[in-house]
Amino acid sequence: MDKARDIREKQRAEWGSVAPGWQRNREKMIGPTSIITEKMLSLARVRGGHRVLDLACGVGDPAFTVAGLVGPEGYVLGLDLSQDMVEAAQELSSREGAGNAEFRIIASELDLGVPGESFDVATCRLGLMFMPDPVGALRELRAALKPGGRVVASVWGAPERNPNFSLPMEIISRHTDLPPQGVDAPGLFAIPTPEGLGALLREAGFVDVEASAFETPVVKAKNAESYWQGVSSVAGPLVSILASLSEEQRRAVREEVVEIIDGEFPEGPVEIYGEAVVAVGSKPL
Ligand SMILES: C[S@@+](CC[C@H](N)C(=O)[O-])C[C@H]1O[C@@H](n2cnc3c(N)ncnc32)[C@H](O)[C@@H]1O
Repeated sequence: MDKARDIREKQRAEWGSVAPGWQRNREKMIGPTSIITEKMLSLARVRGGHRVLDLACGVGDPAFTVAGLVGPEGYVLGLDLSQDMVEAAQELSSREGAGNAEFRIIASELDLGVPGESFDVATCRLGLMFMPDPVGALRELRAALKPGGRVVASVWGAPERNPNFSLPMEIISRHTDLPPQGVDAPGLFAIPTPEGLGALLREAGFVDVEASAFETPVVKAKNAESYWQGVSSVAGPLVSILASLSEEQRRAVREEVVEIIDGEFPEGPVEIYGEAVVAVGSKPL
């Protein structure tokens, strides 16, 4: 098996296993992450009537927000590797009657199965860093965009600025011999700077690229215990590592995370901020 295929397989399994957690926690996650969505959609200047392609759509955020913005004359197509994520988005779409939103499974970020030059905007929220070929994915998005169309992508910043994910990972590495998640392989922190994300967009042929980092709420929970419940059921990479631990290691990790978070937010609620990175670029005319 080639390496890229292995990575996609691993991503598909990791995100598939947390799709039910994403469905259950969707409302709780929309609040904190809406700042990232607003920034992305305003940079991409999404408006009524636009056709938008959302890569790594998960259970449908930001695609459903986009569907509201583009209105009945517009259209949004969400694509993702994970069948479970896509089915959750489809189910939500039919429940909410979002007639202008569609969701499809793809086998790879390098084969989007969409006609060329047919979208006004392409979005990818918190997905690019998990892909084995992010530049290839951006090239695919460029091919799908009309000339002058815009791409906007967001990723997480450096681990030390994202304690929501890095704290549990650090504690796991203390209780096991697993290395902490690095920035050198596809994963949460693979594209941790505006310079890095901007360079990927340029390499993929986008122009007028602007990239920046900003602080944003990442998670809100009523107390340390419910913080752990949430993070350990939605953070794909963390969940798969936890699943590989012994019962005893899992309990030790949970207790230590809860104790630290409890110490920081003794009265509750827990509100953890992190750093996101966003970049926008245009397909040349
Ligand atoms: C952190 S979730 C983000 C979901 C959604 N965009 C959001 O912001 O809520 C990451 C998503 O990337 C998808 N993904 C990972 N690797 C991918 C790839 N190579 N191609 C397409 N989607 C991928 C996962 O299946 C998962 O749904």
